[in-house]
Amino acid sequence: MYDNPQLIIETANIEPGKIAWRSPSNLALVKYWGKYGQQLPKNPSISFTLEHACTDTYLEYRPKRGVDEGIALEFFFKDEPNEPFRIKLVQFLEKMTSIFPFLKQLEFTIRSSNSFPHSAGIASSASSMSALALCLCSLEDRFFGTLKDDTAFRQKASYVARLGSGSASRSIFDGFGLWGETPIVEGSSNLYAIPYKHEVDPIFHTFHDDILIASKGEKSVSSTAGHALMENNIYAENRYRQANQHMQQLLSALKTGDLEAFGRITESEALVLHALMMTSHPPYILMRPATLSMIEALWTFRKETKLPVYFSLDAGPNIHLLYPNNIKPQVDAFVQSELIPLCENGEYIADKVGSGPLEL
Ligand code: PMV
Repeated sequence: MYDNPQLIIETANIEPGKIAWRSPSNLALVKYWGKYGQQLPKNPSISFTLEHACTDTYLEYRPKRGVDEGIALEFFFKDEPNEPFRIKLVQFLEKMTSIFPFLKQLEFTIRSSNSFPHSAGIASSASSMSALALCLCSLEDRFFGTLKDDTAFRQKASYVARLGSGSASRSIFDGFGLWGETPIVEGSSNLYAIPYKHEVDPIFHTFHDDILIASKGEKSVSSTAGHALMENNIYAENRYRQANQHMQQLLSALKTGDLEAFGRITESEALVLHALMMTSHPPYILMRPATLSMIEALWTFRKETKLPVYFSLDAGPNIHLLYPNNIKPQVDAFVQSELIPLCENGEYIADKVGSGPLEL
């Protein structure tokens, strides 16, 4: 859709330069799990962008000295050269050369760092791939002036981010982002995410997401392998049907401000995601004992207090505790007394619905 052989620069005219973006991670409420073709989702998903869990990416460029056609890249993660990441990025940028042919004409140094600890088990692919996609679109706009319109810019950035990591497509927007075709949202697409701005009760923009670190260990199975295992999962087709139903129910809860329905769907989505992992061949379990202890403590707290506080899970063991700002004091007291003692080294990250990526 975005292949454009005309995006070639007069190398004689290029001054070395720099572009930088800070881009957030996001938390999916209806989950994307299962894909086909070139990073296309088996079902629509919706997430909110986080405020604090971000990647900063600085991209420096200069005209290429050599004549080879490949990608010339130096890569530093937290100021250290990182060869495994560099190789992944070179492979990604090579795939991007039909969209951005000028990538072959330049040499790059990319410096990246996350605002959250690498070991905290927070998915960094959404923030890092969206930050890189934004840098590439800014670069195109700088050379060719082709992406002046904000909607066009973000649509292309979301498309490119998706090719790096599906969930990254949704990080391009502030608030809620929706990715994947659904008949109930006009303009929705499998190719890129769209901002979901209309019809969200303001209470959801006040939501907190406390990320409680149940375990900092590296994931035993990557998301890429997890998506692939859906292909032979006996529950897959029912899951995709359920995701579409959940999308409809969740959008209606967002519209009416129905916190109870929001919580029911969100928690079901988290548990189903992990149930799909447990029913894959081979099966695997990413929840840890502390994950279950926290869910039980939360359910007891909710039963006793009737407060609208719910959990979600990403593809990892950590609990995302979701609640509106108007009950923060009560939830804070509960987190301090009952959940933090269950966290590895007492670690958690207080995050919330975010304001979207920022050009640095
Ligand atoms: O973007 P990927 O390929 O890393 O997949 C991530 C999928 C989940 O985080 C588990 C769910 C989602 O929709 O973000």
